[in-house]
Amino acid sequence: MKIRIVESEDLWDVARIENQAFKKPWTFPRFVEQYETNKEGFLVAEDKKVIGFSVTDPNGLLMLLAVDDKHKGKGIGSELLKAALDFLKSLGVSKAYSHVRKSNEQVIKFYEKHGFKKEKELPHYYSDEDGWLLTKQLG
Ligand SMILES: CC(C)(COP(=O)(O)OP(=O)(O)OC[C@H]1O[C@@H](n2cnc3c(N)ncnc32)[C@H](O)[C@@H]1OP(=O)(O)O)[C@@H](O)C(=O)NCCC(=O)NCCS
Repeated sequence: MKIRIVESEDLWDVARIENQAFKKPWTFPRFVEQYETNKEGFLVAEDKKVIGFSVTDPNGLLMLLAVDDKHKGKGIGSELLKAALDFLKSLGVSKAYSHVRKSNEQVIKFYEKHGFKKEKELPHYYSDEDGWLLTKQLG
C-alpha cells in the first residue's frame, strides 16, 4: 500500500468511497475543485487501486478521511491521517482540527488514538445532530 497525491483518474474511485462512507457525501464537482485548488492536501491510499483518501485544508482542517469498507481496520486510515498531519507540519501549521458527529464514536476513538482531544461541543453543527471539534497540537 502506498500513499500519494491524488491524480485526476482517481476522482471516480474517491467519489465512490465517499458515497459509501458519508450520509451527505461531497458531490463530484467538489472533488474536482479540491483537485484543482488543493492537490497537495488531497491524498489517496493505493493498493493496486484506490482504497482510501483524505482531504486536508492548508489552514489545518482535516475535511475528509475515508477508507473503503472492505479495507477498514487494517491501518490504512491511520497512515492517511499521519500523511495528512505531515502535510500540515510541512506548511508550519501548529494545530490540526476536525469536526465529527457526536454519534460517530468509532471515529472519535480513532482520532483520540492519534492524539486528538475534544476541544469544544458544536451544537447543531450538522442539520440533524451536534458535533465535536477535535484538535491536535502539531510539532
Ligand atoms: C475512520 C476511518 C477513516 C478509519 O480508517 P481505518 O483504515 O479503518 O482505520 P485504522 O485501521 O487505521 O484504525 C482502526 C481504528 O479506527 C476506528 N474505526 C472506525 N470505524 C471502523 C470500522 N468500521 N472498522 C474498524 N475500525 C474502525 C477504530 O477506533 C479502530 O481502532 P482500533 O484499531 O483500536 O479498534 C474509517 O473507519 C472510515 O472511513 N470511516 C467512515 C468515514 C468517516 O467517518 N471518516 C471520519 C470523519 S472525516
